[in-house]
Amino acid sequence: MRLNTIERVAMNNPLRAAHQQHREAAWFRRLAGGDLAGQSVIEVGCGRGVGVEVLLDRLHARHVTAFDLDPAMIDKAERRLRHRPAATHTVAVGDSCAIVQPTAGVDAVVEFGVIHHVPDRRAAVAEIARVLRPDGLLLFEDVPRHTLDTWLFRTCTVHPRQDRFEADEFADELARHGLRPIGAPEIRFAGHAFVGAARRVR
Ligand SMILES: C[S@@+](CC[C@H](N)C(=O)[O-])C[C@H]1O[C@@H](n2cnc3c(N)ncnc32)[C@H](O)[C@@H]1O
Repeated sequence: MRLNTIERVAMNNPLRAAHQQHREAAWFRRLAGGDLAGQSVIEVGCGRGVGVEVLLDRLHARHVTAFDLDPAMIDKAERRLRHRPAATHTVAVGDSCAIVQPTAGVDAVVEFGVIHHVPDRRAAVAEIARVLRPDGLLLFEDVPRHTLDTWLFRTCTVHPRQDRFEADEFADELARHGLRPIGAPEIRFAGHAFVGAARRVR
């Protein structure tokens, strides 16, 4: 599901970019047990491309394949990344419920705040599990049901209403698809977000 105007402004601004570049990069590096040097990474729901920069510059991924459902976001990402060597990344319109990459083909998948936007979130998790190689890593940041149920989110943003998840339910869904959570998801922003990691069972 695409963002409405209010959430687009909340996501596409320097504060969000700084948060991804500094805090989330540090969280993900720690959760990964180091950086992603030499690894091929898929970023689902890449938005305007800040996550691609984080994965290349701060986690040192070798290549990032990034996609987003919204062509307007992909236009922004292409403009943001246009000065980088083409060999480091690809960005395209795509759906996390139907990822075009082959089975067991990537070392890591990263989602910065995306799955709570996907109506069939279980299909998205299944697809992420499919494309990860055995022992491959998922890094996730997401938003729990109780936050989506607040007046602010219901009034100002547009999200799927059915089958949302709390952090522990998200971890349970990962495990059902062969993604073994590395510890419990970590609660952030006074309970309004969570981050974590999981590894594809061999
Ligand atoms: C909250 S924004 C996060 C964007 C970016 N990852 C960031 O952190 O700034 C959620 C993004 O997920 C995208 N999205 C929603 N459903 C999607 C799907 N099924 N497949 C791929 N992207 C999706 C939206 O278009 C939007 O860009």
